[in-house]
Amino acid sequence: MKLVLIGMMGSGKSTIGRRVAKELNWAFYDVDSEIERVQNLKIPEIFALKGEGKFRSLEKEMIQKLSQKDKVVLSTGGGAPCSAENWKALSQEAVILWLKASPKQLLERVQKKPLEVRPLLKQGISPLEVITQLLNSREKIYKKADYILETDGWTIPEVCQKILDLLRTKT
Ligand code: S3P
Repeated sequence: MKLVLIGMMGSGKSTIGRRVAKELNWAFYDVDSEIERVQNLKIPEIFALKGEGKFRSLEKEMIQKLSQKDKVVLSTGGGAPCSAENWKALSQEAVILWLKASPKQLLERVQKKPLEVRPLLKQGISPLEVITQLLNSREKIYKKADYILETDGWTIPEVCQKILDLLRTKT
């Protein structure tokens, strides 16, 4: 069994995933960090040097690899669930959970880091517009998750506790 966290950039997947994994005594993997480690390049560098297409194929490869693990929490990049192949791999013996947040909340959270770390936000239109557009186009995919957790107004420890409670009902 694995727990897969999906959702937009800024939804807290990595922070929450790491904490939940610690509580469960499971390993934690952040798909983007694993790509960065193997490529020895940061995500924005991969986008700039190799393009989004290459990033998506590295993401696919990493997801195939990490999906085979058991007793792990996986945090995925915001666009990862949009590939049917990725979804299929991620959903094998897994609980998929969407960390849902409003565009305003997502913007507040992504602004805590330099926007450069998120190449998709550098598109000429405002970051809020990018987030809103991406969320609109991805929502129907995110909705396929086994669980949807609204995170607006909740603290990180509270969200983690809700996830642990949900998992307890599954096992
Ligand atoms: C992306 C989100 C990023 C990263 C890449 C593309 C996306 O991950 O995978 O910049 O398509 O939304 P986070 O969701 O962890 O920011």
